[in-house]
Parts: sequence; structure tokens; C-alpha cells
Amino acid sequence: MKTSGGDEAAKRRAGESAAEAVRDGDVVGLGTGSTAAHAIRAIGRRVDAGLDVRGVPTSFASRELARECGIPLVDLDDLFAPESSRAAGTADGDGGIDLAIDGADQVADGALIKGGGAAHAREKVVAAAADRFLVVVDPSKRADVLDRPVPVEVLASARATVARTVRAAGGEPTLRSAAHKDGPVVTDNGHLVLDCAFGAIESPEAVATTLARTPGVIEHGLFIGLADRIYVGTEDGVEVLDG
Ligand code: A5P
Repeated sequence: MKTSGGDEAAKRRAGESAAEAVRDGDVVGLGTGSTAAHAIRAIGRRVDAGLDVRGVPTSFASRELARECGIPLVDLDDLFAPESSRAAGTADGDGGIDLAIDGADQVADGALIKGGGAAHAREKVVAAAADRFLVVVDPSKRADVLDRPVPVEVLASARATVARTVRAAGGEPTLRSAAHKDGPVVTDNGHLVLDCAFGAIESPEAVATTLARTPGVIEHGLFIGLADRIYVGTEDGVEVLDG
């Protein structure tokens, strides 16, 4: 489920500040959502000014925005193909993506809930493949304990069996409905999303393990141990936290 509200100026400060971490020659993971969009626009302005980067989009929406902003794009599969020099580690760094910048729906103690835009499967692949993962949020996303519903992308045919497992684990699944279409949200990958309310999640690792082990789950929105830095836009600046 998408978070509503949030201070747009704070989102912009966080996104633009993280975009400054991009260096000439980098391959950058481009996240999804309103906060990551500020980073993408800022990178686009730097490209206009001569910065040489390539972006790896995490969704249809981030691909479209990156194109509008003039950011050259590269396909994740091509980047990590064995014949790619970057995949072999012969370019800078060990991997194909130097850094990824993305938003989050909730942040607590370095763990994240993502997937409000139903893009968390590709977002997680890109974040995990990046040398550094920078998270950009406004203060409304911070919490002491994660307690928002966890988005879970599922095979359409496994919706009921996954829902049963979620209930057995103490969660309450809700099929995400589309806002401007009759019926459910269908992800960029052609799957459905169950928003699974667990209340206060005291052990995100345990919930993540249960979801990851459930057949039919494509990906869940708990991101644990992935964030390197969390940029929190404030009223007059940016606070940078360790992930
Ligand atoms: C996309 O699926 C999400 O993971 C977003 O990154 C998350 O919903 C944050 O979006 P906002 O920056 O728009 O709140």
C-alpha cells in the first residue's frame, strides 16, 4: 500500500542529496516512487551538464522518467551477462551497479518496507546487486518498529495458498485493488500483490524468512541488511543515517 502524504520538499531534499553521491562513469540503480523521482530528475540535470552515467530502472515508471530526463539506460541482464566487462569486475568496483537510490514506505532500525508502488521485486534485485544502496525518505517514513502492511508479490494462481500461509503466520492479507481499473493491481511482472498486515513486526527476519519460503511468492517488501545509508529530508536539510 502506498503511503500518503509526506513532505514533498523533504522528499526532494533527500532525493537530490543522494543524487550528489553519483560519480562520473557510474552505473546507477534508479528506484521507484515520488522520492526516488527527485533523485532521478537531479541525475538527469547532471547528465545535461555532462555527467556520464547509465541508469538501471526498477520499474516501467522509473524507466519512463529516466528517458524523459535524458539518462542513458542499461539492461540489468546485459550488465551482468558473463561477457560484460563490468560483470567480470574489470571496471570500477566489484559489481555491475555502483550505487542504487530508492525510496521506502517505512524505515526502522535499518530495515525497510517497500512495495507501495508494487515495484519491490525489481527494486530488491537492483538494491542487492549494487555496491551501495542509498535510501531516500521524508521523516514520515521513520518508525521505531515496522508496522505497515508488507507488500507481497504473488503468482496469481498462488494467491489463495500464499494467503493461507500468511494467516497461519499471524498476518492478514488483502489483495491490492487498482485505483483506475476494475480488479486487482497487476505488477510490471504480471503478478498480483497481497498487502499483509502483521501489526508491529518485532522480528522482520522471521517474517521475511516465512514469506521467502512460501511457494508462489515472487518477492516480499521487507528489505533487511540492504541499506547502506538512509537520507532523511528534513525541514531545512538532510540527515544521513547508517543503514
Ligand atoms: C515502490 O514499489 C516502492 O518501494 C517505493 O519506493 C516506495 O513506495 C516509496 O515511494 P514514495 O517515495 O513515493 O513514498
